Amino acid sequence: MNKNITIGNIKGVLPSLLREQKYSSIAVLVDENTEKDCLPIVKGSIGDYDVIRIKSGEENKNLTTCQHIWQSLTDNGYDRHALLINLGGGVIGDMGGFCAATYKRGIAFINIPTTLLSMVDASVGGKLGVDFGTFKNHIGLFQIPNHVCIDASFLKTLPHRELRSGFAEVIKHALITKGNDWNDIVTSSFESMEWETVIHKSVAIKSEIVSKDFKESGLRKTLNFGHTIGHAIESYFLSQGIDQKILHGEAVAIGMICELYLSFHKLNFAQSDLDQIATYIVNVYGYVDVPESSFSEIIRLCGQDKKNKENKIQAVLLKSIGTAIVDSEISSEDILQSIQYYSNLNI
Ligand SMILES: NC(=O)c1ccc[n+]([C@@H]2O[C@H](COP(=O)([O-])OP(=O)(O)OC[C@H]3O[C@@H](n4cnc5c(N)ncnc54)[C@H](O)[C@@H]3O)[C@@H](O)[C@H]2O)c1
Ligand SMILES: [Zn+2]
Repeated sequence: MNKNITIGNIKGVLPSLLREQKYSSIAVLVDENTEKDCLPIVKGSIGDYDVIRIKSGEENKNLTTCQHIWQSLTDNGYDRHALLINLGGGVIGDMGGFCAATYKRGIAFINIPTTLLSMVDASVGGKLGVDFGTFKNHIGLFQIPNHVCIDASFLKTLPHRELRSGFAEVIKHALITKGNDWNDIVTSSFESMEWETVIHKSVAIKSEIVSKDFKESGLRKTLNFGHTIGHAIESYFLSQGIDQKILHGEAVAIGMICELYLSFHKLNFAQSDLDQIATYIVNVYGYVDVPESSFSEIIRLCGQDKKNKENKIQAVLLKSIGTAIVDSEISSEDILQSIQYYSNLNI
């Protein structure tokens, strides 16, 4: 495990981290939810600090909000020895990290992830940035936080649907890794998960992958499993209006089923594993009605994925659990068949 990530009671970790370094000032970046539910848990461990508030939501992960963050740091006279603590989900972590890494050419920052997704995924691996117009994560950089403090007790206030969404990345990590991780998941129910243990294993998997391929030239691409078709489904529902929106992990869960079907079809992935995984995922997430009228649009959206090369649609397919084949070419017909497979699971 990466040595700048700690998992456990934050009150036991943060004070000594802050004592070790003499920061000139400390700001905590929050949104309205993490200010209410998470700041009370850590405030006693920080000493003097300023709060920088932003509005929650992906729609605020942009340069306008960054300007507000940079302005607050400037107005408070923060110098290069200051610290920014990012207390929140992936939006706060990605954007706060980006602002810290660029303010006065870079100040220290600590991420305290408060959603399951940000604990197991966004906080690990040093990808920072913001959206730009309709382009997601278009402006940003790679930089490892000075520290990541993970404490599963923040999950107590996280809405159930957000928790379940983050769990899709846990499933993904287990399926792209050799070992017992998938077996441990499939033999437990979502409702009875021992979150700290789950987080330990999932963070270890992502850390290991990132340590071998930081800039995503090969192995790190395996983390895109479920995301080619998943992203397209997420974008399709978002384009249908905000009340139709499904969460990222809910879309990735469908994407994993579709991409496993293609793995079975093209790479001989075992049918018994496909059946078991699809059943588990549908049990956890329920069944999402993907209307037939959306299929062609979803295929078109897969064609726009930024991971594609030379106009060919690429996905991560699995030969078996733990053996991922990156840059696997898939056709429009393949995608259609895989969504039809998912749709037939409901019958
Ligand atoms: N950097 C990476 O490698 C990486 C990887 C995956 C995703 N991401 C990014 O992460 C973002 C999504 O992150 P997310 O799913 O954490 O969403 P999020 O940050 O939008 O948080 C989801 C919601 O939960 C609320 N919340 C957070 N913690 C809470 C808590 N403990 N109690 C109550 N409410 C709480 C937030 O205010 C928000 O309303 C996306 O922008 C995505 O691009 C980055
Ligand atoms: Zn994801």
